[in-house]
Amino acid sequence: MIIAVDGPAASGKGTIAKALGRHYGLPVLDTGLLYRAVGLSVLKAGGDPDLEADALAASGFDDAILADPALRSEAVGSLASRVSVHQSVRDALVQRQRAFATQPGGAILDGRDIGTVIAPDADAKIFVTASVHIRAERRYKDALGHGLHPDMDSLIADIQARDTRDMSRDHAPLKVAEGADLLDTSDLTIDAAVQRAIALVDAQLEGR
Ligand code: DC
Repeated sequence: MIIAVDGPAASGKGTIAKALGRHYGLPVLDTGLLYRAVGLSVLKAGGDPDLEADALAASGFDDAILADPALRSEAVGSLASRVSVHQSVRDALVQRQRAFATQPGGAILDGRDIGTVIAPDADAKIFVTASVHIRAERRYKDALGHGLHPDMDSLIADIQARDTRDMSRDHAPLKVAEGADLLDTSDLTIDAAVQRAIALVDAQLEGR
């Protein structure tokens, strides 16, 4: 059984994917981390994320980088979005994602192109969204928890820039996959969003 969870930055898809993993007893792959690892590797190598050759060279990253705390920062999220526009970089990461998706027993993957490109035949597909303001507020509260006081306007601008790049790129752009159910988490608590996601997945599995 494969469950695809896609959606824009800070929509809550990671939290929902992990909760689905616990509910269904399935392993979860956060595919954004792979693109983040490429982005951080380019940075460490002094390369240019917008240059395909530099980004491709970084896609052979050492797995140790997946444990680097810097991977989670908004700056690296933005680098990840920039390297992810290159088709050769996406190709370099496909094999690993498909191998995870097709492991015996099943899997859950979250990202931007899981239901469209990585696992178009997934058994269930969810597209998680939330308004830009709500997503910026969540980022803001996260940052406060880490003792930071980011500027709300720049958080909004960062999220909008990332949405635009992820949705308008030529290769595997972020969009709602055929057969996916929309889950808008703007007005939902985490618990309510998770319950809704489980209900949507159960209904899709029953309707197969
Ligand atoms: O989910 P995230 O914020 O960690 O993803 C970081 C960037 O990586 C995102 O802005 C675009 C890219 N990405 C992608 O192109 N395809 C995926 N399946 C996952 C992430």
